[in-house]
Parts: sequence; structure tokens; C-alpha cells
Amino acid sequence: MRITLVDHPLVQHKLAHLRDKRTGPKDFRGLAEEIAMLMAYEAMRDLDLEETTVETPIAPARVKVLSGKKLALVAILRAGLVMVEGILKLIPHARVGHIGLYRDPESLNPVQYYLKLPPDIAERRVFLLDPMLATGGSASLALSLLKERGATGVKLMAILAAPEGLERIAKDHPETEVVVAAIDERLNEHGYIVPGLGDAGDRIYGTK
Ligand code: PRP
Ligand code: URA
Repeated sequence: MRITLVDHPLVQHKLAHLRDKRTGPKDFRGLAEEIAMLMAYEAMRDLDLEETTVETPIAPARVKVLSGKKLALVAILRAGLVMVEGILKLIPHARVGHIGLYRDPESLNPVQYYLKLPPDIAERRVFLLDPMLATGGSASLALSLLKERGATGVKLMAILAAPEGLERIAKDHPETEVVVAAIDERLNEHGYIVPGLGDAGDRIYGTK
């Protein structure tokens, strides 16, 4: 499995503030959006281009524009929504899918409660978005749901990953490229990433 670590100084600086427990929901959302946007710059480096010509005010210019498959951003609810908001600022015409999952607090297994995807998901380049890859159960189930509907070559973008989550994706979906801003030490006994940033959904929406 290929792992791309986005260690750009701007991303690392913003991530430091994101982790800080003093950062409230408004700033947390803004930082997560910005980090996702900067990560997308790296995650989308291999998008196809084609040559065309435009007329500048001076002369014709040979230019490159995006070509090939259209894009889809798929958020794992709830926390993936902030990453969608950030990336849509770069790619406003991308279609958006939603996969509703929550982690059972006892078993840590994901429970599915919603799924709505663009109907032509099999024809699109798909970016699966969730800021936290902890046990990897949620992302693994989301990747299976996408594959069942014909999606191929899905890239998983997570702001923080635990080694356990990366191992789970490597085992269940070895063809997946994972793009992360940091790989942390481990999970604690409640399945939270250490040092991590806490519960992403709660910090985004102020629900705790
Ligand atoms: C969080 C997070 C991931 C999941 C990661 O969601 O946003 O979806 O946990 O954990 P895993 O890798 O062990 O599956 P949560 O279940 O808290 O739901 P929420 O976003 O609705 O709060
Ligand atoms: N989900 C979160 O939001 N945070 C973690 O550390 C683990 C799972």
C-alpha cells in the first residue's frame, strides 16, 4: 500500500493548532478545511491533463487543462464533511457522496446509517475523506461500499493516522493509496489516536 505523507511546513503548522485542545470549533473547522485543501494539492498531483489552446490578449497560448475522469469527493460522516468543504474550494464542480458511519463505543466497529453516492461513481476518480484513521474499521468499510458500487483506484485522505489503521487498510485494501498529514504513535484503550486531537466530530461541531 502506498502512503503519501504531506509534511509541508504549512500543513504541519496548521496541524499543530488543530491538535491543541484550546482550539474551539470555529477555528478547528477552518484549520481542518485548510489542511484538507493543502493535502488535496498533493493527493491530486497525478490528475490527467490535456493540451489545448486559449487566446490571451496577446497571442494564442498552448495550455494544459484537467482531462480524463471527473472527480468525486466522498465524506465519511460526520467529520469528513469539513474536508469536503475545504477541497470544494479548489474543485467546486466535484460531485459529493456521503457515507454515514459511527463507531460503536464498545466494539469500535463501524455502524452504517446512511449512503448516498453520485450515480456514476464507477466512472469517477474518487477521494474518500475522513480526518481520523484510528482502527481503520470505518475507512475499510467505506472502501468496501465504494468498491461494491464499482469505484476503482479510490484514494483515502486522512489528516491523522494510527499505525493500526494503516495496517488494517494495507490488509483489507492493499491497492489503496493513503494520503495523510501525520502518522501518530498508537491507539489508546478506547481506540483514540495518541497523541491525536481527540474526537474530531465533537471538536468540529462542539458536541462535547
Ligand atoms: C470517527 C472518525 C472516523 C472514525 C475513525 O468517527 O471521524 O470516522 O471515528 O475510527 P476508526 O478508524 O477506528 O473506525 P465517529 O465514529 O466518532 O463518528 P462522527 O464523525 O459522527 O463523530
Ligand atoms: N475518532 C476520532 O475522532 N478520534 C480518534 O482519535 C479516533 C477515532
